[in-house]
Amino acid sequence: MAPAPPEEAPEELLRADRLPFERRYSWSGRFARLRQEARSDLEGFWGGIARRELRWERPFDRVLGGTPPEYRWFEGGELNAAVNCLERHHSTATAHRVAYYWEGEDGSRRTVSYADLYERVRRLASALAERGFGRSDRAAIYLPMVPELPVAMLALAYLGIPFTVVFSGFSAEALAHRMNDLDARLLLTAEVGFRRGKEVPLLATARAAAAQCEHLEQVIVLRRTANPPALQERELDWGELLAHRSPPVEPVPLPSAHPLFLLYSSGTTGTPKGIVHGTAGYLTHLAATMRWVFDPGPVDVLWCAADVGWVTGHSYIVFGPLLCGATSVLYEGALDYPGPARVYEILERYRVSELYTSPTALRSLRRQGDELAGSHDLGALRLLGSVGEPINPSVWEWYFRVIGAGRCPIVDTWWQTETGGIMVSPVPALDSRPLKPGSATLAIPGVDVAVLRDNGTECPAGERGLAVIRQPWPGMLLGLWNDPERYRSTYWSRFPGVYYTGDYAVRDADGYLWFLGRADEVLKVAGHRIGTAEVEGALLQHPAVAEAAVCAVPDDLKGEVPVAVVVLRSGALASPTLAEELAEMVGGRIGKFARPHRVLFVGRLPRTRSGKIMRRVVRGVIVHGKELGDLSTLEEEASVEEVRAAADSLAGDLAPSRATR
Ligand code: WTA
Repeated sequence: MAPAPPEEAPEELLRADRLPFERRYSWSGRFARLRQEARSDLEGFWGGIARRELRWERPFDRVLGGTPPEYRWFEGGELNAAVNCLERHHSTATAHRVAYYWEGEDGSRRTVSYADLYERVRRLASALAERGFGRSDRAAIYLPMVPELPVAMLALAYLGIPFTVVFSGFSAEALAHRMNDLDARLLLTAEVGFRRGKEVPLLATARAAAAQCEHLEQVIVLRRTANPPALQERELDWGELLAHRSPPVEPVPLPSAHPLFLLYSSGTTGTPKGIVHGTAGYLTHLAATMRWVFDPGPVDVLWCAADVGWVTGHSYIVFGPLLCGATSVLYEGALDYPGPARVYEILERYRVSELYTSPTALRSLRRQGDELAGSHDLGALRLLGSVGEPINPSVWEWYFRVIGAGRCPIVDTWWQTETGGIMVSPVPALDSRPLKPGSATLAIPGVDVAVLRDNGTECPAGERGLAVIRQPWPGMLLGLWNDPERYRSTYWSRFPGVYYTGDYAVRDADGYLWFLGRADEVLKVAGHRIGTAEVEGALLQHPAVAEAAVCAVPDDLKGEVPVAVVVLRSGALASPTLAEELAEMVGGRIGKFARPHRVLFVGRLPRTRSGKIMRRVVRGVIVHGKELGDLSTLEEEASVEEVRAAADSLAGDLAPSRATR
């Protein structure tokens, strides 16, 4: 049975309930056994995995401790993430395996073995230790997709220095905000990155950020061009730092809940929040999901075509694959540069067997047609993955038929920065359940996802509700940096005692889960997570802007894009130039990927009688051409007409999405 139409799900998602795999419905075998084991003894289940998969310097005393919702996994244990990802492979044949096939946009290539990677990590860690950095410090990383990026992450993990990787598309302001929030003493960056044939001036941005950060003491700069700029005060050349051989240091054993890294992610209000991940729980979750979902063997080559600056890259380019001793492709640059064949060339050249990418990337590949897939040898592929946003069933079908030539299962994996690793996904290593295009299928063993109504009761099959997670899981965030109150109110107060995901979902009659997009003020633009509040905050910094409401509008390529509706201060004049200036300003303050697709001007915004902006009404008018739901709290009806008139002025532009609704 297809799920009942959820209000805002793409039409296409609702028609899809076909089973492309002919296999009979069967959850027998390992999946059913593991799920049962986890149901009868959750702690025994995860404790067993943690013992088997990780190297412990000191065994844990307790699987699950802490005070809910501040759960602490594997209390009493000590371990080190770099030991688990690198050192323990050192005495095995894995040391000679390729960790990364790196390719630059201009075609340059490097092959980094596990032994090389470990050597580089140790040297960087020793050099940092010699300069006095240690586990009481914090660091930021602002690097492009080069092997030095995982090297930096692992060297910091080796010393127990919690770090945050800032995606190289972020602005100086965003970088400074993160460094200040963390009181980072150390920044690792590069002179430039390369994208679409151009140099991305990372050092210039890093310097602008560093100027706003009091605590920052040292900036390590990776040089990448023939004529690098002279270094300034506080800056050190990466190559020189390593050339001077520092006395080797040992990896630091760390408590299970020692923060491994933080990722700043947009929420519903205010500035991005620092999502903290610990060491043991996070690594256990990755080890399990790597085996169940990807199950890399000795001949596999994984290509997770995400950026390490986001959680997908942390978990499935760096920590997950390295834990398993797997080989990955690391590519710096745009997937369609210099031409649309790029992705296929990479798949062919490295004989990639597992591709993991976003629906946005797939929509763009599909637009380029089917011939390129046919003219490249993609015969090594055996598994395809999707992550970051709902995948349109027609895109799923295309992925399955054209890229996978009808032989590779698709793992549509649902998870979040907060969950650390995959939560809902097919698990080809455990069972061969039939797949349904657009559904992430079932939660992994040990994870309990439910779909609830507003009043907290469970939705019957086919009814859209809010997705929650009912039990703690090892990859879960430890909390929000310096903000325990926000941690509780964001995740644990919507439905007391259960974790609130912020996503709409529906469960169908077969028990399969369909994730339908965010239920809160968070946008997914090309898979990147952006808060409407963040974009509004940036707009409000412009002297001409009095008020702003930002909402998500469906987009054929990017999934959704931000559209801003702005009220100007008296005296300011609306014009295309100002609209452009405002969009630019958001790009400059957050990063280009957050730039509003359109800026509309109105005289007033729909508000409730208590003065709150009714974004739901703004979005309804722009996306559907009509207001949706209850308008009884609306202060002035004329405001809705103003939004409608402004949206109509863009008819040619936004009409496609309005027409399909
Ligand atoms: C969305 C990315 C549908 C969802 C790993 C979630 C998905 C948000 C899927 C988290 C999927 C992720 N199907 N929606 N397979 N995977 N999402 O933190 O809305 O960048 O809440 O983590 O992405 O985004 P984040």
